[in-house]
Amino acid sequence: MRTINLGNSGLQVPVIAIGCMRINKVERKEAERFVKTALELGTNFFDHADRYGGATCEAIFADVIGMTPAVREKIILQSKCGIQQGYFDFSKDHILEAVDGSLKKLKTDYLDVLLLHRPDALMEPEEVAVAFNELQTKGKVRHFGVSNHNPTQIQLLRKLVKQPLVANQLQLSIANATMISAGLHVNMLEDGAVNRDCGVLDFCRLHDITIQAWSPFQYGNPFGGGGVFLGSEKYPALNAAIDELAKKYEVTNTAIALAWILRHPAHIQPLTGTMNSDRLRDCVAAADIVLTREEWYGLYKAAGNTLP
Ligand SMILES: NC(=O)c1ccc[n+]([C@@H]2O[C@H](COP(=O)([O-])OP(=O)(O)OC[C@H]3O[C@@H](n4cnc5c(N)ncnc54)[C@H](OP(=O)(O)O)[C@@H]3O)[C@@H](O)[C@H]2O)c1
Repeated sequence: MRTINLGNSGLQVPVIAIGCMRINKVERKEAERFVKTALELGTNFFDHADRYGGATCEAIFADVIGMTPAVREKIILQSKCGIQQGYFDFSKDHILEAVDGSLKKLKTDYLDVLLLHRPDALMEPEEVAVAFNELQTKGKVRHFGVSNHNPTQIQLLRKLVKQPLVANQLQLSIANATMISAGLHVNMLEDGAVNRDCGVLDFCRLHDITIQAWSPFQYGNPFGGGGVFLGSEKYPALNAAIDELAKKYEVTNTAIALAWILRHPAHIQPLTGTMNSDRLRDCVAAADIVLTREEWYGLYKAAGNTLP
């Protein structure tokens, strides 16, 4: 599996990462098979959050992978914290407590990467800085980052946090490409010009922050109102364009959807959510495809996005 440098951390990570948010939805045997396949394919980067599956996913993962020190050495573990039941919490106490909880459930004594899950309006960057220092000094977390943060929120953190922020997890797919559209429609009246994230894509490129694309196969909100665009009647033109390219590159539609994200020069790391071993193989095939410029823009437009 092709690797990229996560931010400027020096940590080499597979270009496709595995999201474990849905591991509680499958039978244990299926989850075991899936994790085994992931390791065979070289996709050994696993994304978690303390909250996933009602706080059950991390423990399920540790169980199905059979976590031991030897297994731990072969994998890269990322988790997220900062979401409480009904509110967000970047307080020092919560961050420290959440990480301890994740370490316990994952049966490990360190996380490779910790992300702050969703911006907390009451965040005190001073407190985050103290928490990160403690986690780093005690060896509990090696690298730090954020999720769903815009550039000014990141800058505010960077003012006090001394560790480099190496990743920012954001929703991105062909059918949910607002961060790309805003850069194409600068200063225009079209809908695509609406800048929802203060230019986060270019900001992350400028500051060596890897964007991790969550929900790469979904349109809309995957937690309500959205869904998978592949095979969806809502996206006939997109599916026809994807299917044509799938034929050309001799891969599945799944691989083409990911190849679209991977083609962006920002070295974006898609986070796949499948728990199906065959679909994971389809995903991995995307790492070897380089879409032409014409193909990339063709898919972008087929999803209903426009160019000025
Ligand atoms: N930071 C955040 O706020 C945030 C938010 C959401 C998610 N995440 C992370 O991102 C990861 C990925 O998110 P996600 O699970 O929404 O991503 P996704 O890969 O877009 O969606 C996965 C879901 O779509 C289904 N699926 C995928 N391809 C399909 C296809 N070709 N046809 C039909 N169904 C298909 C999968 O079913 P099968 O299992 O059957 O393949 C699975 O249920 C999560 O696990 C989590 O780690 C982060």
